[in-house]
Amino acid sequence: MRITASAPDRWFRSCARIHRSQLAVGLLAQMGERFLSLVYRHLAGDPDATLMAVVENDEVLGFVSGVRGGNSLLLGLLKRFPIRAPLLAALHLLTHPRSIQHALEIIQHMTRRRQTGQGAELLSIAVAPDALRRGIGTRLFQELRDEFQRRGASEFTVLVAETQQDGLAFYAAQGGSVLETTAIGPLPAKRLVFNLAEK
Ligand SMILES: CC(C)(COP(=O)(O)OP(=O)(O)OC[C@H]1O[C@@H](n2cnc3c(N)ncnc32)[C@H](O)[C@@H]1OP(=O)(O)O)[C@@H](O)C(=O)NCCC(=O)NCCS
Repeated sequence: MRITASAPDRWFRSCARIHRSQLAVGLLAQMGERFLSLVYRHLAGDPDATLMAVVENDEVLGFVSGVRGGNSLLLGLLKRFPIRAPLLAALHLLTHPRSIQHALEIIQHMTRRRQTGQGAELLSIAVAPDALRRGIGTRLFQELRDEFQRRGASEFTVLVAETQQDGLAFYAAQGGSVLETTAIGPLPAKRLVFNLAEK
C-alpha cells in the first residue's frame, strides 16, 4: 500500500531499520537511522515521489521508493525539514566522522541526478530479513511499476551496487536490462532499465 506523510512514525523508522540492515553498504545507510527515517517521511510526502510498503499486523515487512522527474531530493528534504534534516545529519557526522566522505558523495549523487534531469527511478527496495523469498519484493516492485505507468512513464531505471547480489538477481527476475556500468561513490554499480511498454 502507498504510505503517506501522515503514516505513524514507527513505520518510517521500520523502513529506516530495514534499509540499514539490507542496504548496509549504500551511502544513505551510513547516515544513521534517524536521518534515514526523515528521508522516508520526506519521500512519502513529496508529490513527485512514492513510498509503498507491505504492512502486516502493524509491522513493515518491506518497502519500495521511487521518484519521477529530475527534482533535487536533497533540496526537497531541506525545504521540508530545514532544521531537523541538517541537525540530524550534523549530529550523526559529529559522532561518526568517517561518514563525512559518504555525506559528500550523497550530495554529489543527488546533484548529478538533478543535472541530468533523470526520469522515473526506483530509489530503494528492501524486505526484512525474516520475510525474504515470499514474493513481497515482487509485489512492491509491481506496485511501483504500475504507479510509474499511471503517471505516464515509458521506462524507469534503478542504480544498484554490484555488492547487492540478491538485488541484481531480483532485478534480473523482474526483466531488467543493464543500461550502463557506473559507480555510487566508491562502489561499482549498474544502472538497469525496465521498459514499461513491454508489460
Ligand atoms: C531484493 C529483495 C527486495 C527481494 O525481495 P524478496 O521479497 O525476497 O523477493 P521475491 O520473493 O519477490 O523474489 C522474486 C524472485 O527474485 C529472485 N530473487 C530474489 N532474491 C534472490 C536471491 N537472494 N538470490 C537469487 N534470486 C533471488 C528469484 O528469482 C525470486 O523468485 P523465486 O523465489 O521464485 O526463486 C530482497 O532480497 C532484499 O531486500 N535485498 C536487499 C536489498 C537490495 O538488494 N535491494 C535492491 C537494491 S536497491
